[in-house]
Amino acid sequence: MTTALDYQPGFRNHFATEALAGALPEGQNSPQRCAYGLYAEQLTGSAFTSPRHQNLRSWLYRIRPSVAQSAYRRLPHDAVVTAPPARPAADPNQMRWDPLPVPEAPTDFVDGLVTIAVNGDAGTQAGCGVHLFACNRDMTERFFYDADGELLIVPQLGTLRLRTEFGELEVTGGEIAVIPRGVKFQVRLAEGRDAARGYICENYGSPLELPGLGPIGANGLANPRDFLTPVAAYEDLKGDFELVAKFSGAFWSARLDHSPLDVVAWHGNYAPYKYDLARFNTINTVSFDHPDPSIFTVLTSASDTPGMANVDFVIFPPRWMVAEDTFRPPYFHRNLMSEFMGLIHGEYDAKAEGFVPGGASLHNCMSPHGPDAETFEKASNAELTPQYQGNTLAFMFESRYVFQPTEAALNADFRQRDYVDVWAGLDSHFDPASP
Ligand SMILES: [Fe+2]
Repeated sequence: MTTALDYQPGFRNHFATEALAGALPEGQNSPQRCAYGLYAEQLTGSAFTSPRHQNLRSWLYRIRPSVAQSAYRRLPHDAVVTAPPARPAADPNQMRWDPLPVPEAPTDFVDGLVTIAVNGDAGTQAGCGVHLFACNRDMTERFFYDADGELLIVPQLGTLRLRTEFGELEVTGGEIAVIPRGVKFQVRLAEGRDAARGYICENYGSPLELPGLGPIGANGLANPRDFLTPVAAYEDLKGDFELVAKFSGAFWSARLDHSPLDVVAWHGNYAPYKYDLARFNTINTVSFDHPDPSIFTVLTSASDTPGMANVDFVIFPPRWMVAEDTFRPPYFHRNLMSEFMGLIHGEYDAKAEGFVPGGASLHNCMSPHGPDAETFEKASNAELTPQYQGNTLAFMFESRYVFQPTEAALNADFRQRDYVDVWAGLDSHFDPASP
């Protein structure tokens, strides 16, 4: 493979990249004969007629077209669930899980996927699936694409090499990667790593985009130039390869006699990208009280109702806490939106214990949550000097649609069945004689 682990900056720019000089045609997309005997193939991530600012497509110049593969055969994969689930299981109870154990048996990225919760309906392109992954083996003769949604990958442990049709991305804890719907890729463990684990949001809805900044102005939150897209890189390999497709909630397998990572050049704005969450320009109060956590939105997928996200990706990164006369941890709340949370590293300021890196929590629509009793006591009596909260990186997948936990998640050994007890001990301090 031409191995250029190199990136092009910018969020959904109209990139143009070639691994062989002259492989990209000039001035047109599909010439009668492409340079080097390549085939031209278009991949679209929007309807042809989507408004210009939402129109997503790339042209790929590859050694063989994607149709050069066998018919698809069904492939069982019971651990992965797609919305709507066969047996809806949403209930209002707050839920929490310990980390998914790293497997002992050889397990690659695809086999290591486990669905925790889903919402919406993949068939109508609304909602998302929340998966965990844990793997200890490279995909070698195996490739994957997801026709049901784009994949927002949040590594928590280890470093992944995402070898895609568009080139290669390396992502580690504290970074994210997005693989658009339909893009073929393979996951390997980075040099010297023997396992990886993390979270995935499979977004069935409109592709993730940067949120509008409103009164914040032109700068702040995630800046477009910090998003990195790979340069073209290809391999010309013959052999016996498998292409696994997630399509309409099921897994399918097709055979190939060559590697599908054979794109020598491409141009367009539909491509994988990565982002280092440490680049997020965090904005918070410099007077009192909290802005709502929407101030921490990295990427958002819109629904058909303005302002009501199909799913938001929100982070709680290292930051200074300076609010005066303010209860500083997250306040007690009940929200319309449903919240799935994970922790990449460090500690989360709303909980004294129990929410650990690799773990997860689910607080659905209108279910009350907030700090535990110990955190409430401490924060109510803390001296309010400026404090740097450096040892933390939590995130949230927040959606307008209620999450349905899967049966596997409900019955998992690593589910904390006593989670609700963290709010025991929040006693009355009410004294009408003491204003
Ligand atoms: Fe919340």
